[in-house]
Amino acid sequence: MRILSGMRPTGRLHLGHLSVLENWLRLQEENECFFFVADWHAFTTEYENPGQIKDFTYEMVGDWLAVGIDPEKSVIFVQSQVPEHAELHLIFSMFTPLSWLERVPTYKDQVRKLAEQGKDITTYGFLGYPLLQAADILIYLAEGVPVGEDQLPHIELCREVARRFNHLYAPVFPEPQGILAEIKLVPGIDGQKMSKSYHNEIPLTAAAQELARLTNMMVTDPARIHKDDLGHPEVCTVYKYHALYNNEVAEIELSCRAGKIGCVACKKRLAQITEGVLGPVRERRAALTARKGYIEEVLHTGRAKAQLVAAATLEKVRAALNL
Ligand code: TRP
Ligand code: SF4
Repeated sequence: MRILSGMRPTGRLHLGHLSVLENWLRLQEENECFFFVADWHAFTTEYENPGQIKDFTYEMVGDWLAVGIDPEKSVIFVQSQVPEHAELHLIFSMFTPLSWLERVPTYKDQVRKLAEQGKDITTYGFLGYPLLQAADILIYLAEGVPVGEDQLPHIELCREVARRFNHLYAPVFPEPQGILAEIKLVPGIDGQKMSKSYHNEIPLTAAAQELARLTNMMVTDPARIHKDDLGHPEVCTVYKYHALYNNEVAEIELSCRAGKIGCVACKKRLAQITEGVLGPVRERRAALTARKGYIEEVLHTGRAKAQLVAAATLEKVRAALNL
């Protein structure tokens, strides 16, 4: 199956992104995968301050590679380097009713949310965000799109656009399916959602000391003042992490409830376990950072491969439209 997915460039990734990437890893073993950086999509909200988008792109792709996204198996590229996406987006915009875009559930929410932060995204480009996404997907004739649940309305729109094109002109496009994986919901160290904007994240490439420091900052059961106070793991962020990463979580739960393990020791155990997960990622990251120009090279090759496919689709589209 041909698979495509993308992420907006947000810089260094965090532990919350790991299970998304692990899903990509599984997919790349048995499918033809295209993974790209949606830098134009970043522009829709960062148009006043696009200065970091490029650095964020390199940082994010570095993390993809460190996790094991493999340029020998998958096509890894940057959206703005394949301008064919923009031509297809333009063509789609000619026959996509405005109402389809206006009724995408995230649209009005996002406009309101960003207005609170002083950002005006009542732009032409932002309204077209899901249509550009449809072009990203359809230009590769992708059939499967691994995404989070929040993105399903965008996939639905993509299917509608494909159907309308096929109906109006010629049957060029498949109707892609969203692929929902089981994504681990990792809390931030303060127990809220993990997010760079909340400053509560564990970077994927955190050094071992940093990992220990962040683990020590995690919120535990406030009722435990003495080491032998009975604990309530259900209110403890450290426990949530044990539940996600430690096979022996049942033992932690019992010891905590019985007051047989202190929070300091419990955090130490956790830091060892997350180090086991992130240590190898950090090492691969360091190795590829040492290869100067490596990420550029990967993206250069990816661009060429992506462009071959994208250009072939555009040929069919132009023929269907008699352009
Ligand atoms: N909108 C996606 C997100 O915010 C990013 C994205 C852009 C994307 N184009 C895509 C994802 C195409 C999948 C396929 O996460
Ligand atoms: Fe949390 Fe562990 Fe302390 Fe229990 S012992 S409150 S699970 S840190």
